Amino acid sequence: MSSVISIDRERLIGAIDPKLFGGFLEHMGRAIYEGKGTCYLCHGEDGEGYGPEAAGLDPPPTNLTDATFQAARTDGELMWVLRHGIANTNMPAFVGKGLTEEEGWAVIHYIRSLKR
Ligand code: HEC
Repeated sequence: MSSVISIDRERLIGAIDPKLFGGFLEHMGRAIYEGKGTCYLCHGEDGEGYGPEAAGLDPPPTNLTDATFQAARTDGELMWVLRHGIANTNMPAFVGKGLTEEEGWAVIHYIRSLKR
């Protein structure tokens, strides 16, 4: 006999609220951005590109809050950057090198929330 236990999530916790789920991903992304992802060191805690290690970098870290930058990139393009880094710049690769793909998507979710 199979011992798989199936849980009816909707009955246990109610319908999953997509807004709450989005909020959770943002929080997770922020924890990574300001933690083990080290993004804040270059892009700054506020995302504007003036982190403690940004001085002198050429090209400078992208202002992630910039609406024009945000509009120019799809989520998939941002994932490509997180996976491969940007050649001849200080932007390293992260996904597959310390961050999982799930963590990468969470950070992208957080970056989207920084748009001003
Ligand atoms: C050591 C410094 C450094 C760290 C740490 C760093 N970045 Fe960057 N990042 C850069 C620089 C420099 C650029 C600008 C590259 C360019 O202009 O081509 C950049 C560019 C980017 C871009 C814009 C790419 C594009 O499409 O134009 C994104 C998105 C980004 N970084 C996200 C992140 C995230 C997320 C993290 C953390 C997981 C991170 N960066 C950590 C230096 C850094």
